[in-house]
Amino acid sequence: MRSEFLEELILTLGHPNVLVDDDDKAPYLTDWRKRYSGKALAITLPKTVQEIAQIVQLCAKNQIAIVPQGGHTGFCGGATPDNTGAQIILNLKRMNAIREIDKANQKITLEAGCILQAVQDKAAEQDFLFPLSLGAEGSCMIGGNLATNAGGTNVLRYGNTRDLCLGLEVVTAKGEIWNGLKGLRKDNTGYDLRDLFIGSEGTLGIITAAVMKLYPLPISQWTTLVAIDSIESTIALLNLFQKRATSLLTGFEMMTQESLTLNEKHFPHMANPLQGNPPYTILIELSDHESEEHVRQLLETILEEAFEAGLISDAVIANNLSQANSFWHMREHITLAQAEEGANLKHDITIPLSSLDNFIKETDAQMRSQYPGVRIINFGHLGDGNLHYNIAPPLGVDPKAFNLIHEKPIHELIYAQVERCHGSISAEHGVGQLKLEDLRAHKGEVAHELMKTLKRALDPQNILNPHKVVSI
Ligand code: FAD
Ligand code: MLT
Ligand code: ZN
Repeated sequence: MRSEFLEELILTLGHPNVLVDDDDKAPYLTDWRKRYSGKALAITLPKTVQEIAQIVQLCAKNQIAIVPQGGHTGFCGGATPDNTGAQIILNLKRMNAIREIDKANQKITLEAGCILQAVQDKAAEQDFLFPLSLGAEGSCMIGGNLATNAGGTNVLRYGNTRDLCLGLEVVTAKGEIWNGLKGLRKDNTGYDLRDLFIGSEGTLGIITAAVMKLYPLPISQWTTLVAIDSIESTIALLNLFQKRATSLLTGFEMMTQESLTLNEKHFPHMANPLQGNPPYTILIELSDHESEEHVRQLLETILEEAFEAGLISDAVIANNLSQANSFWHMREHITLAQAEEGANLKHDITIPLSSLDNFIKETDAQMRSQYPGVRIINFGHLGDGNLHYNIAPPLGVDPKAFNLIHEKPIHELIYAQVERCHGSISAEHGVGQLKLEDLRAHKGEVAHELMKTLKRALDPQNILNPHKVVSI
């Protein structure tokens, strides 16, 4: 049966686009963090939506599960197959055409396999901003961004990927093609199917194309790093910027001393330019459509006010694009420094800003008393209340051995604190296989049952990314 199925796949896609040899399959089988590794019957590389529809029909006929895959940069193991060797991977990388840039309606229609950075570049060529931005933008794909409802560094001003999306084209679990690519900004014709597929991590349908919003390119951007002593002051500073700069505020990222110490250990050329590596370093970006002088002056005025109010103790304003980029690189390299350091425990959480100070004080205290010497690598998109509250073992302790014993109780401690503060256990990275059980415990029974009802209705054979997000 398997060989007949593979023959039919090859007939549909052509020999080079169905990988069955172990060496050819290997690059698709392990996730970015090297936490999950699986096996696959084949890797399929379709080029058109019709080919994807045919693959899904073939899989439905043969009861073969499909793992959709974009850039494979996800953090929750969503794009990695299980160990049975019975699933196929459907990688979207060959579906990478930009179908249209519609200037009048400020929108772009593009295929799911487009690399995020290529989309930003294409938009910029036409004098537009495509605001989705994240550390993996050189390799993640727009289909993966939509499937995970990725966040990143511009959410404060432009929202999550969901907010940037005007329409989708999706192949359903039966292999039908739903064309929802009109891209209208207003369309109240019943249930919002687009929103159902965004963030569903390949469990409800395969996203093959999308219409995304474009924005005018800012004329000038100014980036600054400020030193600050407490989370309380950080939130007061955020509120000050929100009040004074309003929609010009496009970035507000937080990095703790411990995060930047780790960064400097692995990337010494990216040391914090602020003297003495303060308790909290905040990266702030303003973007303006008026003039360079206007935004620079505004930034200086707000910083002066912050100094006078005793909120900040030091600040460095980037004097040119290359310095601004170096500030962003420092922020984005924390993830890479963590990867260099070895396996770590990630917690991608949202805490309401009003509870953030209390959350950090209490959780840090509990972590440090129960796990002496532990390193809390806490950084994130503070403007959205999104922390990456990651845990590394004490210096000199083997990460794998530490995680083997402590992973579960540490997750439980942190997620109990998230629950107490009415936060979320997944802010932007999704659920995948990593948080399948945590989701069951934290989503709430009614919500979890509703999710299962949707999954059963849209994928009754359970062939789309089974045992990711929800198990039915
Ligand atoms: P993949 O990892 O290939 O897939 C992710 C999930 O989506 C899987 O469940 C997969 O089955 C499904 N999927 C993929 N394509 C499709 C499709 N076409 N149709 C249906 N389902 C599909 N994430 C953030 O949100 N914010 C960040 O700031 C951020 N920074 C990162 C920095 C680094 C250095 C790295 C490595 C990752 C970062 N991520 C971040 C995580 C990751 O990049 C995002 O989750 C991204 O959106 C995943 O895109 P991808 O193309 O790699 O998807
Ligand atoms: C980030 O904000 O840099 C990413 O989400 C990556 C991470 O959490 O490590
Ligand atoms: Zn993030």
